[in-house]
Amino acid sequence: MSFLTIGHRGLMGVEPENTIRSFVRADREGMDAIELDLHLSKDGHLVVMHDPDVDRTTDGEGAIADFTLAELRELDAGQGERVPTFDEVVEAVKGRLQVEIKDVAAAKALAEAMTAHDLVGRVEVLSFHDEALAEMRQLLPEVPRVLVASHYGLGVVDRAREVGAVMLSLNIRRLTLELADRAHEAGLKVIAWTVNTPEELKLARGLRLQGVVTDFPGMKHSVRFTA
Ligand code: G3P
Ligand code: CA
Repeated sequence: MSFLTIGHRGLMGVEPENTIRSFVRADREGMDAIELDLHLSKDGHLVVMHDPDVDRTTDGEGAIADFTLAELRELDAGQGERVPTFDEVVEAVKGRLQVEIKDVAAAKALAEAMTAHDLVGRVEVLSFHDEALAEMRQLLPEVPRVLVASHYGLGVVDRAREVGAVMLSLNIRRLTLELADRAHEAGLKVIAWTVNTPEELKLARGLRLQGVVTDFPGMKHSVRFTA
């Protein structure tokens, strides 16, 4: 497998995060996969946002779960972009997607959308929440699962195995050679986030990772340069 360069929330270093504009840019810049975050609107639609509330990334205020899709659509998600639905993203870009379940309640709706749009084979499902990955394993066992962790120790390898994950997506700031080796010995691929500098890329290469999640398009060039 070649080393993956994955666009974080599209390419959030140069475009408003988790917007169609950001995803199209990531696609155009040749990212190997595009990462996005999922929540559920009040009326049960899969919406692509990172935080549980709309405050930081839009001109609105309040919890996503208190907004209907129509109400979310009225918000400005940056440079006039609207909050996208998951369906809109899969139509706007054609490549590989890393879909992160932020709201555990979104797992069932995601499985339904993936079946309806025949996305099995194109999507990897990510989560910080073991229970979301366990539910996906029940609903769509053939879809690859990726456990995400920020604060973790060696035990994260066992957690990944318990939910049948094929990959770990880990905060680069806490990654050690011991943990990377332990994960690899367990048959897991390992990617790191967020990798935006040459030093971070060097570390990822030194740890023999399988890829990096980045905010910036230039990382693609840096990865080629260090191949
Ligand atoms: O791909 C994993 C990474 O996106 C996790 O961090 O907080 O940006 O969702 P966060
Ligand atoms: Ca994410």
